[in-house]
Order: sequence, then C-alpha cells, then structure tokens
Amino acid sequence: MSQSAPPFRVVFSHDDILRRCHELARQIRAAGRDTPPCLVVVVEGARPFARVLQQLLPGNLPLHEVRASSYVGTQSSGQVKLSGAHAVPCRDRDVLLLEDIVDTGRTVAALRRFFLDSGATTCEVATLLSKPSRRVVEVPLAHVGFQIPDEFVIGFGMDVDGRYRELPEVVVYDAEVERTFLGASAAAQSS
Ligand code: IMP
Repeated sequence: MSQSAPPFRVVFSHDDILRRCHELARQIRAAGRDTPPCLVVVVEGARPFARVLQQLLPGNLPLHEVRASSYVGTQSSGQVKLSGAHAVPCRDRDVLLLEDIVDTGRTVAALRRFFLDSGATTCEVATLLSKPSRRVVEVPLAHVGFQIPDEFVIGFGMDVDGRYRELPEVVVYDAEVERTFLGASAAAQSS
C-alpha cells in the first residue's frame, strides 16, 4: 500500500488481480465465439480491469466506454443512469460488458437490457468483483474475478466519491482509518 494512502486493509494485491485477469482472459478466449466480441467498459471504475483484459485478448479490440451511475458515497440510490451506450456499435455483435464490481446487479442488468434491446446478438458480463449477498436483481455473470462479502472496496479503479481509484490494489474503505490518517498527516505537516 502506498505511503500517501491511509492503511486500509488489502483484500487483493495488484499481483493477485493480474493473475486472476490472466485466468479470466483464458476463460473468455476458451468460450470464444466466431467473431470477436464488442468490448464495453463501464467507466470510470472498470477502466483498469478492461485495459488489462484488452491486452490479454487477441486482436487489440477497441474498448467502448459507457457511464452508469447509481452511487452516492457508499450507498446505491437504486436508480441507474446510462450515458454513452447509444454510440456503441452493438447491433448483431456479441457484447462483452466489463465491470469493476457487481453489487445489487442493477447496473449490469440495465446495460444488458439496453444492448439486447438495441440488437446485440448476446451480452455477457465479465466483472472483476461480485458481492452476491447484495444482489437485488438476478443477472447472469459469465466471468467473475473474485466474490467478496458485503464490504465497500476501493482501488484498482474503484472509488469513494472520486477518491482512491489510483490505488494499485483492492482495499476495504474505512472512514475511521481515513480520518485518523488524514488527521495524523495534517498534524505532522503543521509541526
Ligand atoms: P450495482 O448496480 O449495485 O451492481 O452497482 C454497480 C456499481 O456500483 C459499480 O460499478 C460501482 O461503481 C459501484 N459499487 C458497488 N459496490 C462498490 C464498492 O464496494 N466499491 C466501489 N464501488 C462500488
């Protein structure tokens, strides 16, 4: 963990993540269809995961970016707003949605519905993380990196109100740990 970040508990190191991405890429290639998939990344959070997979899949496939927002801080609002999805050339294509984390399932369910309604042949989901105990909407997940318990995690693209996306590992967000760390840093600077 970087010295400039609070000492959050590490769940998956950067190496753990890369190792699992190699396995997922192998799975995706093995399940390969005749034509290359249309890769759709849910930004910002899934960008690092998508970039690693893009490099591991053959054909240097373009990444199409869509935005979906439902979170305020660490709480899901229940409403999913999509943007950028209309620009994805999904008609008659096999779409592979790349997501950072599936929590209630609402985001990937809304995106799958959108692409299938827009003429995609299939729409599968590859997600780095899944929290099955939080599911509200059942949605098929073809490729899952890791299942985690009901904890709010950050790093490797995932944020809390825009913070900590750049951490190379996945850690558990803890507001108390953050407060103590920031307080100690401020005290050290003023002394
Ligand atoms: P869902 O629609 O509830 O499945 O939520 C999916 C989105 O919520 C993800 O793409 C993340 O942006 C966000 N999210 C859910 N859980 C977490 C978490 O533990 N850390 C960071 N973001 C999360």
